[in-house]
Amino acid sequence: MVKIGRNDPCWCGSGKKYKKCCYGKLPIGGVQPVSKFQPVKKGQLSPARSIPAHIIRPSYAETGTPAGARSRNAVRTQDEIDRMRVAGQVARTVLDTILSSVRVGITTDELDRIAHEMCIELGAYPSPLNYHHFPKSICTSVNEVICHGIPDDRPLADGDIVNCDVTVFIDGVHGDCSETVFVGKPDPLSIRLVQTTYECMMKAIEAARVGTTVNSIGKAIAPIAKREGFSIVRDFAGHGIGTQFHQDPQIVHYPDIRQTQKIVPGMTFTVEPMINVGTHRCVVWSDDWTAVTADGKRSAQFEHTVLITSDGFELLTAGTGQPHFMRQLKTGWS
Ligand code: MF3
Ligand code: CO
Ligand code: CO
Repeated sequence: MVKIGRNDPCWCGSGKKYKKCCYGKLPIGGVQPVSKFQPVKKGQLSPARSIPAHIIRPSYAETGTPAGARSRNAVRTQDEIDRMRVAGQVARTVLDTILSSVRVGITTDELDRIAHEMCIELGAYPSPLNYHHFPKSICTSVNEVICHGIPDDRPLADGDIVNCDVTVFIDGVHGDCSETVFVGKPDPLSIRLVQTTYECMMKAIEAARVGTTVNSIGKAIAPIAKREGFSIVRDFAGHGIGTQFHQDPQIVHYPDIRQTQKIVPGMTFTVEPMINVGTHRCVVWSDDWTAVTADGKRSAQFEHTVLITSDGFELLTAGTGQPHFMRQLKTGWS
């Protein structure tokens, strides 16, 4: 975990000291939940889902621990890139399917079942399953859950927001993407949170240009979050991705001059900012996965797997048209 001192430069990139800038505006540890919403309660997990023998598994599928050391090689071969385009599009297809299934009353376990079965149908292994012993095939993070929510039997309720995070492993490589969507009728603050988080992700991807460093990502996000009075999660980061689910480089979403790695063509990494209404601080449930905001206020996230090219970027997990939440805002909800 990265700690920031009162006299350090503020996380928001203003150049001012933290204590003179955002310090007083964020609740400091140990606060009681102040949200008007009921906290998310942990539900029951369904029995483990199986993977048929013909699906090629990643190294951790049986053991829970990835084989070999974390790769520090950030640049992909042409062959890896070709395979990652396919993996990215399989992840997108699965994500689009579960996003369209989100409605009041459906359980996150049901979304997990749909995603799990679709992965198998498309010849892919759902990367989260048994990754460091994660028990399910996708992550579903509701309301104040920041990330790594475990699908369970809690039915989604009117006014919830839920992030669905899909990663697949196919032909030896991973593709990773997520979107946050509304359940039923959203409140204005949740709309602003979700819109802002999407803007943070897209502006950060546009800023990640060859010749800059990975710090350009956090530097692009900070002023947008600050403009809305939201905070940026610091304890979880984006990551290089390829033959390994999580590898170098680490992609933090706040400005940090220590992030000096140069961005070069052929890099593939995720950009996946988590933006909070209140404090950036988090607490992890005793299930050792579910990360929630320390103040119980809401958190949103979006994620793409990005390929850096000489003149820009390619979204390996691109969808067709607008993200799901924008369509919901246009056409209404049920
Ligand atoms: N998909 C998540 C990410 O964006 C990682 C989930 S790891 C799991 O990096 F084990 F929780 F599945
Ligand atoms: Co993900
Ligand atoms: Co990721």
